[in-house]
Amino acid sequence: MTPDSPGAGASAGAGAPTGTFSGLAAVVTGGASGIGLATATLLAARGARVACVDLAPGPVPAGLLGLPGDVTSGPSITAAVQAAAAALDGIDVLVNNAGVGALGTIEDNPEDEWRRVLDVNVVGLVRTSRAALPFLRRSRHAAIVNTCSIAATVGLPQRALYGASKGAVQALTMAMAADHVGEGIRVCCVNPATVDTPWVRRLLAAADDPEAEFRALQARQPTGRIVSPAEVAEAIAYLASPLAGSTTGVALAVDGGMDGLRLPGNGRGQPDDQHIRRTGS
Ligand SMILES: NC(=O)c1ccc[n+]([C@@H]2O[C@H](COP(=O)([O-])OP(=O)(O)OC[C@H]3O[C@@H](n4cnc5c(N)ncnc54)[C@H](O)[C@@H]3O)[C@@H](O)[C@H]2O)c1
Repeated sequence: MTPDSPGAGASAGAGAPTGTFSGLAAVVTGGASGIGLATATLLAARGARVACVDLAPGPVPAGLLGLPGDVTSGPSITAAVQAAAAALDGIDVLVNNAGVGALGTIEDNPEDEWRRVLDVNVVGLVRTSRAALPFLRRSRHAAIVNTCSIAATVGLPQRALYGASKGAVQALTMAMAADHVGEGIRVCCVNPATVDTPWVRRLLAAADDPEAEFRALQARQPTGRIVSPAEVAEAIAYLASPLAGSTTGVALAVDGGMDGLRLPGNGRGQPDDQHIRRTGS
């Protein structure tokens, strides 16, 4: 393997199971930024050959293969998935992570915006998975992990469209898990709360008081801080790995306890703060 070949270059942290993905190939959509890039980097560090499929991936870190692909276009995403399979010698793991946000109540977004967001977040996942299934069926360790959101399970203000799209992702995850368990393909999702990615930084930058907004986001989490991309990547890597061979049809929260915990008094875990109406996921 050359230093620039897929799977080389990234280094695992101390104690990390470096070889968990040895011999396996992974495709990560939205893999050029945020959660997708963190996941691609981690999978490569653990031995996978990894393709980052994104709208215009640009230069990706050494050891990763960047491929252009738009999940809203069948021909585009099919070509990207096929190119990844050819370059990586198959596909064992698909991470459906490409996604876009939307703010507002049901009165705020026009129908075209509903179609656009559902097309990326829901139908995009369908197109990509369809293209990858023929390759996944040939794998002995096939897994799909979808990046869902806490917005699938919790009512957040100003998230009608985004929450609807992620609710569909969680339901689709369960349906796909049932459909494909018989052919040895596991399907799971991760449900992060607000993660410190370029997406959230863009929203913060547009806020009236970015620092107050950031403090409110941190305070909303029972852990007192927002989630890191590396923490979501760890959860995705676990669900995607051969070590999780008996786990399918699971939604794994990576949310600092925001969905599951009810804490008294300290202001944490109360998703009704006015400051977070425009940035939280
Ligand atoms: N950041 C958060 O707080 C948060 C929380 C929960 C869930 N999520 C989900 O995590 C996923 C990644 O979000 P992120 O925060 O890393 O965002 P990000 O904006 O940093 O990265 C998203 C990537 O997806 C790509 N993308 C967008 N549309 C695409 C398309 N049509 N085809 C191919 N690629 C496309 C973008 O180019 C970008 O590189 C999304 O599905 C999002 O809904 C994010």
